[in-house]
Amino acid sequence: MQNDQLIEQINQLRRQKNAVIMAHYYQTADIQQIADFIGDSLALAQQAKKTNADIIVLCGVHFMGETAKIICPDKKVLVPDPNAGCSLADSCKAEDLARFKAEHPDHTVISYVNTTAEVKALTDVCVTSSNARKIVDTFPKDAKLIFGPDKNLGNYINSVTGRHMILWNGACHVHERFSVERLVALKKQYPHAKVLAHPECKAAIITLADVVGSTAALLDYAKNSDSNEFLVATESGILFEMNRACPDKTFIPVPPEMSESFDKDGNLIPCACNECNYMRLNTMQKLYDCLLNETNEIHVAPEIAAKAIVCIDRMLELSK
Ligand code: 13P
Ligand code: SF4
Repeated sequence: MQNDQLIEQINQLRRQKNAVIMAHYYQTADIQQIADFIGDSLALAQQAKKTNADIIVLCGVHFMGETAKIICPDKKVLVPDPNAGCSLADSCKAEDLARFKAEHPDHTVISYVNTTAEVKALTDVCVTSSNARKIVDTFPKDAKLIFGPDKNLGNYINSVTGRHMILWNGACHVHERFSVERLVALKKQYPHAKVLAHPECKAAIITLADVVGSTAALLDYAKNSDSNEFLVATESGILFEMNRACPDKTFIPVPPEMSESFDKDGNLIPCACNECNYMRLNTMQKLYDCLLNETNEIHVAPEIAAKAIVCIDRMLELSK
């Protein structure tokens, strides 16, 4: 089916079925355009809590669908592609976390939202990149904390809060790949540009950044900044909303380590090549198919959901 036919069909189906389409900023432009709501992972969870729809189509990755399902157990939550996983969530298996917890008794477990429902069930409080600093700061300075699974976000939060949280050794394969060398080259080429980095990036990128924040925070900064040029170190899907919100500003994606992108004069050619292969599994056709057939429904075992909701609710409460 052509894209304009898909748009028409999806619009009809969402009205008929009282469905809401939510999309993360890392989705393709066409999906962001058709979504009722786009946001970062915190905003998607907050929106799920508010919605009156009967069906939520979560255009993002599996843990985002699971979070929505745990928040809204009575609603049908669908994801366009059931294989849209997350390397960061994969880096922390529930059985390994359970063992780690046993080795560190008396510690509070803080988990990034990029985790499975089973890991959330073992977690005391959940965070996203939007609220991690704020939530960690609610604990006394000498609190014994485990932070997982993202060591880069954990390191960053340790550095800005003066903590010594024990970190899980996980990372996102997309954010770990940004090239420091190429960012330095781009900074020379665009001396007035501000560097925007997601806290999942490795420390060397964070050190070069003017702003470190969640996708929503980076977008907000770009909208309100006096600067006109930005070097963006996060998944390139965010550039769609940045360009839409700030048509007169220039956003240049920071390239990953392995891309060959120099012109004949040796200048770096900015390329939109930092894509999350999981996020990009979702397409308009799959969005239409799952809404039509109500397939790829997210299920969370009730005993897991009953435990996992506690750390999600705690996060939502602390984020107010
Ligand atoms: P945000 O919380 O900034 O939306 O990030 C989610 C994510 O998966 C980053 O890789
Ligand atoms: Fe997971 Fe990284 Fe993709 Fe975000 S960008 S969904 S952390 S794999």
